[in-house]
Formats: sequence, C-alpha cells, structure tokens
Amino acid sequence: MSWTKEDLQQLVKTKLADRRFIVVSNREPYIHILSGDEIQCIIPASGLTVALDPVMQACGGVWVAYGNGSADREIVDEKNRISVPPDEPCYTLRRVWLTKEEEEGYYLGFSNEALWPLSHIAYTPPNFDENNWDIYKKVNQIFADAVLEEIGDKQAFVFIQDYHLALLSRMIKAKNPQVITAQFWHIPWPNTEAFRICPWGEEILDGLLGNDLLGFHIRYHCDNFLETAKRMLESRVDNERSAISRGGRTTLVRPFPISVDFSRITRDAAEAEVEEEMEEIRRRWQLGDEFIGIGIDRLDYTKGIPHRLNALNKFLAKYPEYRGRIIFFQLGEPSRVHIKKYRELNSEIDDMVEELNWKYQSGAWKPIVYIREHLSPATLLAFNKLAHFCIVSSLHDGMNLVAKEFVSSRTDEDGVLILSRFTGAARELTEALPINPYATDDFAEAIKRAIEMPKEQRQARMKKLRQVVEENNVYRWAGNIISELANLGL
Ligand code: G6P
Repeated sequence: MSWTKEDLQQLVKTKLADRRFIVVSNREPYIHILSGDEIQCIIPASGLTVALDPVMQACGGVWVAYGNGSADREIVDEKNRISVPPDEPCYTLRRVWLTKEEEEGYYLGFSNEALWPLSHIAYTPPNFDENNWDIYKKVNQIFADAVLEEIGDKQAFVFIQDYHLALLSRMIKAKNPQVITAQFWHIPWPNTEAFRICPWGEEILDGLLGNDLLGFHIRYHCDNFLETAKRMLESRVDNERSAISRGGRTTLVRPFPISVDFSRITRDAAEAEVEEEMEEIRRRWQLGDEFIGIGIDRLDYTKGIPHRLNALNKFLAKYPEYRGRIIFFQLGEPSRVHIKKYRELNSEIDDMVEELNWKYQSGAWKPIVYIREHLSPATLLAFNKLAHFCIVSSLHDGMNLVAKEFVSSRTDEDGVLILSRFTGAARELTEALPINPYATDDFAEAIKRAIEMPKEQRQARMKKLRQVVEENNVYRWAGNIISELANLGL
C-alpha cells in the first residue's frame, strides 16, 4: 500500500496534535529573484527541498531557511515570513538573513568545502579552516534563535535538515529542553577512518547527538555513524537498538530512504504544458528518430559527469554504427560556483564536451548537447519523458532523487535508467542497469545495452521501478519518521 498526502495529514493530526511543526534547512524551497523590474519565484535544484516541499504542503507549519534570493527581503512581512507555495499558499517560509561573510564561512567554507567532501568519497580533499568553523557555529546559533522565536511558548517538533546545521539541536535545547528534534542527514556518513580527520569531529558528533532521532538514507550510513561515535566520543552505543546514549540522553539512529512525490510527478508529467515542451525540444534540436539520452545534475564533482562523458566517448569509439544516431543531453544547473573546485569542474566539462563534439561531429549532428542553466520543472519533465535512457553516474550519493524523478515521470512505462552502484537509490532501484562510473568500458557497454534493450524488457523493468517508487514515496518517508518519534512518546 502506498502512502498518500492524506495519510500523512492524518498521522500528523493524531501524532503531533497541537505541537508546532518546524522544518529547518539551509536551502529554501522558493527563491525570489529580481529579473529586470519583476520579481520572479524559482524552485532551486536541491533534492532536499524538492522532497520536503510536498511534506510541508501536507503538514503545514513553518519552514525556516536562509533567504539568499535577490528579491527575498522585498517580499516578506515584518517577521520575515511569507506564505508559500506562491500559487496555493499552505505553509509559512521564515527567512533567516546572513551577511556575505557569514555565507562564505558557514555555507561555502565549512559546509561545502569541509563537510561535503569529507562525507563523499569523491577524492576531493576537505579544507578545514578554523575561521570558517567559528562562523559555522555562529550561523547555527542564528538559525537556532530564529527557530526558538517561531516556537515561542508552544510545544514543538523541530525537523532539522542536513550537514549545514549539525549543532542546531543542542543550541535549541539549551534554551528550550522541551522541544523534540529529529535530524536527517541527506548525504552519506563516512566511515570512521575518513571522518576522524575533521579537527572538530567530536563537536559535530556531540551536536548531532542533541537530537532524539537521527536519520540517514541507508543502514550502512547508520552503522558508520554508530561506529564513529563509539570510537571518537564518550558515549554508550547500543548496536542492537541502534541507539547512542550520552550525558543521560539517548538518540535513535535509523535509516529512512528519502523519495519523491510519485503521484504529483506522474500527474504533472501528463500536463499539456509538458507535451508542448517536448514538441519545443524536438523542434529546437531538430530531433528525428535518434536515441535520446539525458543526464540531469547539479554541476557537482560528486555526480561523475566527466566519467559519464568518458563512457560516451568510449561507446562512440567502439560502436561507430551509432554515430549520428544518438544525442545525449547533459542538463547542468550551476552550483556553488564561488568554490574553486566547482569552477574547475565547469571548465573540465566544457572542455570535454567541446572535445567530444569536435571528434565525432558530422554534418549538423553532434553527440552532446550541453545546457548549463536553470530549467523549469516542466522542461525537466519533458526531457525525462523524451529520453530513451537516463544516466545517473554519481561517484557517491546519499540517495539521488533524479533517478526517482525519471522513474516517476515515465507514465508510458518505458525508458531505461543507468544507475551508479554508489547511490543510495541503487539499493531500491534494482531494475536499473547498475554501473561503476569509474569502470569506463563496462559503463559504455551499459549504454549500448540500454539502447538495444527490447521494448518488453524495458517496460517490465520500468513497471517494477515505478512500483518501488510509488510504494516508497516521500509521504512514507515522512510518515515513518513521525511514527518513530511518536513511539518515543512524543
Ligand atoms: C544536496 C544537499 C542539500 C542541498 C542540495 C543543493 O542535495 O544535501 O542540502 O540543498 O545538495 O545544494 P545547495 O548547496 O545549492 O543547497
């Protein structure tokens, strides 16, 4: 049985009763930007916000996040709040403001140059800077103050997101011990060997153990966390219960594989607007009967985009009969471009695309179309529906929701998913074609297999993939977390 929005609403009503429901994350679900004289609302490319928005729409409540859009300040009320989504408001977005220096130290510096590479095995070394760490602590306190203000004198359940806010639960509870907190870590948790190089590892572990419940996508990351706490911190680790006690309080550690709003994507994919977009894409790129491949990513070095281009190169070199018959659309959303590693990745991809197209192009045909810009949800759905195959080649990924979005959009029960073994999603989506992105020859063979797969097999696989995502949708994810808290006597 799959969970619905209504099931989640019912659960929240009975379990949370009159507690306030507050979600906190760094990234906000709706960003207001100035575009000429107009204020435009955009949806960021973040698996986290895309997954949580439907949960908030079902539960109501307040979402506290950093307001970094150029028009964000213009549109909030005097309490820095705005009702969202813009076309059908049903929850409150409370924006927190940061200075440029704070954004640099906390977001770019500590979160994304230290914790992000520390948690992902992508062979990019973390950069630990004491000043950034100090700002990270300061900004966690800014978020904690905003959350405490939203709670006021009510009872509350605070649901904290991700690695930007590792110290938050302790800071909230220092002022209001009644609050119940759960935190979900959306990226992998590394093993102890990898984690212990962090100079402030103990403080981070201690901060996370301020939570009543701590969630990761998969059991393996929970086990890594339990082991890290056991080795690095004075605490009692109960492997049987998957719980850690420290200073007289206990944190449960549980796997909750995140997902997408399957029914909403399925519905949206059938909209006329998406059909029109598909037509527009066919027209714009003069598509005929070529095999269409897609990759949709934030331009991040963990996503294995150069590895994917290497595999496409290998494929075209080994199977020249497919030259002129395949077009691969790489859609890339620029991300964290103030960090050098990300800028280097951008130029590496530019060079590789240029090289590949130069090597193989003939007449009007080029194998790769690279679109580096923010695209609307309707355009992304159109690409998902047009594709014969979709490649997700992450070097390491907590879950990867692009894979689940591709599956959800395929109402025609067709299309092949090529999926890195190193994603959390690979554990559930077993009917995808698994790849090791580093193994270029095998990867190229997987592309061939995807293209040549008979229709009945494609459909049988996609049908099963859709069942998995439909059943394990984002409402189940949120429902399981809230039920777990309820068992704690919430
Ligand atoms: C990952 C993180 C999210 C983050 C997203 C986009 O999915 O887990 O917390 O929002 O990347 O990155 P950004 O830095 O743009 O928020």
